[in-house]
Amino acid sequence: MYLGLDIGTSSVKAVLIDDKQKIIATKTSPLTVSRPYPGWSEQDPEHWWKAATKAVLAIKRERPKEIAAVEGIGLSGQQHGATLLDKSGKVLRPAILWNDARSFAECREIEARESRSRDISGNVAMAGFTAPKLVWVHKHEPRVFAKVAKVLLPKDYVRYRMTGEYASDMSDSSGTLWLDIAGRKWSPALLDATEMRLDQMPMLYEGTEATGRLTPEVAKAWGMPKRPVVAGGGGDNPASACGIGAVTPGAAFVSIGTSGVFFVSNEKFRPNTERAIHAMCHAVPNAWHQMGVILSAAGSLEWLAGLLKTPAPKLTAALGDKVTGPSPVLYLPYLSGERTPIADARARGLFMRLGHETDAKILTHAVLDGVAFAFRDSLEALRAAGSEVNRVTAVGGGTRSALWLKIIATVLGLPVDVPTDGDFGGAFGAARLGLIAATKADFRQILKPPRTAKTVIPDKKSSASYQDAYAAYAQIYPATRELNRQ
Ligand code: XUL
Repeated sequence: MYLGLDIGTSSVKAVLIDDKQKIIATKTSPLTVSRPYPGWSEQDPEHWWKAATKAVLAIKRERPKEIAAVEGIGLSGQQHGATLLDKSGKVLRPAILWNDARSFAECREIEARESRSRDISGNVAMAGFTAPKLVWVHKHEPRVFAKVAKVLLPKDYVRYRMTGEYASDMSDSSGTLWLDIAGRKWSPALLDATEMRLDQMPMLYEGTEATGRLTPEVAKAWGMPKRPVVAGGGGDNPASACGIGAVTPGAAFVSIGTSGVFFVSNEKFRPNTERAIHAMCHAVPNAWHQMGVILSAAGSLEWLAGLLKTPAPKLTAALGDKVTGPSPVLYLPYLSGERTPIADARARGLFMRLGHETDAKILTHAVLDGVAFAFRDSLEALRAAGSEVNRVTAVGGGTRSALWLKIIATVLGLPVDVPTDGDFGGAFGAARLGLIAATKADFRQILKPPRTAKTVIPDKKSSASYQDAYAAYAQIYPATRELNRQ
């Protein structure tokens, strides 16, 4: 038996699988985010630990025998968060999360101090990343900064509580802005630029490697007498890629969740910071990935649904499931700024070409189109960075709308595969990594793609009109950048 634990932002999820990778049990335990000031986003690391324990114990209650047979555990988690520990391993302040925007100015400072920052880290310095958060703490909470003995990512703090080890994996560490992505090692130059030291970083492992075993105390509390090994695991997106089998060069998926992700697996480090692509290590050895991140994907539709006081599925159902060409209204989905392709935390959303005839249906259609155009922006940026993408797999809540999938296939000009029902999130991918670490199996044999339930192909009749609409969409941000900033 193998266990995957995903330390998400809204919940911790535990997935238990057997040696045939069949899911035996799944439990989640909720988390809340605290936002003490506008733009801040924090969590108490103790809550991750409590929620992880709660989810595992809930499985144990139902499946004590299977839990007792666990030999490997994998971890996945929200990326980029800064958990600061003193020399005794005590948490110094609430963790600062991936969607916290306070360290905007510090990003520019890091890039000014180390001109090779983008080349080494594969990324534009963005407020979401870990390093700028430490520069902020240095400036605003110098007493806390002086006591920082270790900085851990969220899942790695949970690992520390599980094993007593300070360890991380390459894929999650890629989101700190301290990793030399090509060399898969901490970068002394980037650490220097933020006045941080190597001894403040955890040990690095591949996602498939064992980083330690459960401590005897935790093994007893969790009912796991075999003291399972804990795999390096991965950031939630690369771990999901392991869940969906996107580990070979060119294998790609789009995740249509609150945020949207366009993920491509690569055989080498392929940065494109010009268009704000994230270029990072994969959770498997000798592999890298690129990622376009859209901050408000299904989140845009949820926002409109809230405004119109109509549930999102009802809004999309009103449009039917046939593609009829683009909406007459254009929508820019930058409700909380955007990462790819503009890396602009201050950009905001827009509706354009509103008329007296504009109704809820037209606005819904515009939102579906706008998010599809944002995915197309990511595809263009990934291609400009040397990725060859011929088809994608779609996952996430947004895939429940047949129309949205068809619009996305048409706008991308790619076939979109929809997997058979199943769980392909970070927790499942992490469980697979736990299996690999425990059995030393070849990851290629374990991380296979799921069966495809259906393939959605582009709508030929609407391709040209969507191409024109995309060309217009692509001009909105450059034309309105200064006016449309918060
Ligand atoms: C990726 C990112 C998010 C978090 C949230 O760069 O910031 O996807 O990992 O889970």
